[in-house]
Amino acid sequence: MTTAAENEILTRTGPGTPLGELMRQYWIPAAKSSELKADGDPVRILLMSEQLVAFRDTNGKVGIMDHRCPHRCASLFFGRNEEGGIRCVYHGWKFDAEGNCLDMANVPPHQDFKHKVHAKAYKTAERNGLVWVYMGKEQANPPPLPELESTLVPEEDIQILFIQRECNWLQGTEGELDTSHLGFLHFGSVKKEAYVEGALEQHVVENRAPEYKYAETDYGTMYGAYRPAGPGETYWRQGHFLWPMWTMPPICSIDNNLLLRGYVPMDDTHTMMVYLMHKDAVLPGAKTARQDIVGTGGWNFIPNGTGWLDRFRLSDNKLNDYNINRETQRTQSYTGITGINLQDQAVAESMGEIVDRTEEHLAPSDQMITRTRRHIVKAAQTYAKDGTLPKSASDPSVYRSVRGGQFIAPEGADWVESYKQKLDAAPLKAPLPLAAE
Ligand code: FES
Ligand SMILES: [Fe+2]
Repeated sequence: MTTAAENEILTRTGPGTPLGELMRQYWIPAAKSSELKADGDPVRILLMSEQLVAFRDTNGKVGIMDHRCPHRCASLFFGRNEEGGIRCVYHGWKFDAEGNCLDMANVPPHQDFKHKVHAKAYKTAERNGLVWVYMGKEQANPPPLPELESTLVPEEDIQILFIQRECNWLQGTEGELDTSHLGFLHFGSVKKEAYVEGALEQHVVENRAPEYKYAETDYGTMYGAYRPAGPGETYWRQGHFLWPMWTMPPICSIDNNLLLRGYVPMDDTHTMMVYLMHKDAVLPGAKTARQDIVGTGGWNFIPNGTGWLDRFRLSDNKLNDYNINRETQRTQSYTGITGINLQDQAVAESMGEIVDRTEEHLAPSDQMITRTRRHIVKAAQTYAKDGTLPKSASDPSVYRSVRGGQFIAPEGADWVESYKQKLDAAPLKAPLPLAAE
């Protein structure tokens, strides 16, 4: 059981919280590159309960900083993004993307102390369509970006989506680690006949109650959910939790399973799901089942506004019960809610903004969730106690060659060995390791 005190550690990520401080020691995806135009409008970004402003300067460099001007705290959101920096509209002080004060326009030259003033700017980086921010203590010398395969492949091969969820980050994360819901929430009314002969995923609807294996790793935790397949064979679904808030669920065969979903805390009750899917990450034979029965479920976005919470919200949301169709629920799909993502969104948000985990009755099917909670709590407590960081915070290579995915292995074969063999045989989609950035 998860105690109230553990739940506090797991769900609070603001400044000064044990997990928030630990998460800050990692690079976090803050925005899509396309959100920021050179000399364009500043964008409000809410990250781990910090109100930040992001802008792209004349030369293309991205700045992300506390939205409060260091002079008298007027918001730099209203600033003028001009000629290599952002100028506060209150008294004209100007800051570059690194937070250096370039101009103290309302102070006579002999009283100028601009060299002593810095906006609270964080280190930023950009790679393949994502803007990253490092909010940790090593601002002068941050670690390299994590070598997550999905973030290394060419931008044109990857679909990048940001989707806001109105609940705590861990609810989305735990949904990804909970593979048994697939056979109900998503495929509850899908029959084996919906799949083409030999399609891997048919085993999910043939046997909806898998068993689990679990392991700790250098990057976080991993599970293997298994069921019998053909004679002498086992069907595996392998997935991962990777620090600080990434998941790799198995959507298709491990050969092509470049699917990465991060649940970035905006504050403790809002999360930005950062979703990267490779164009090859599709499961032949599952398409018909998914499209005809579950619904293709595109994402219907409300146009972005400029508020802290106004980015990437869906128009199918809790205010309209995700447009549930009860007739469809009776006759076609299990939920009457269209599409896998929206189904996940609905159940995660339905638990409440921060689920009270003392109310749960956890089962063996929740093993990956309970173990991962313990793993997270322990790491946060260890960091708070003596500053020891997980290896993943400083060694980006631990993320190399990790994928979720589905595969068939001989019955009784060691699960981690089978996973590694399958992964070794799968072609990489991006050259690794990276040249220094
Ligand atoms: S508050 Fe920004 S320049 Fe005065
Ligand atoms: Fe799901």
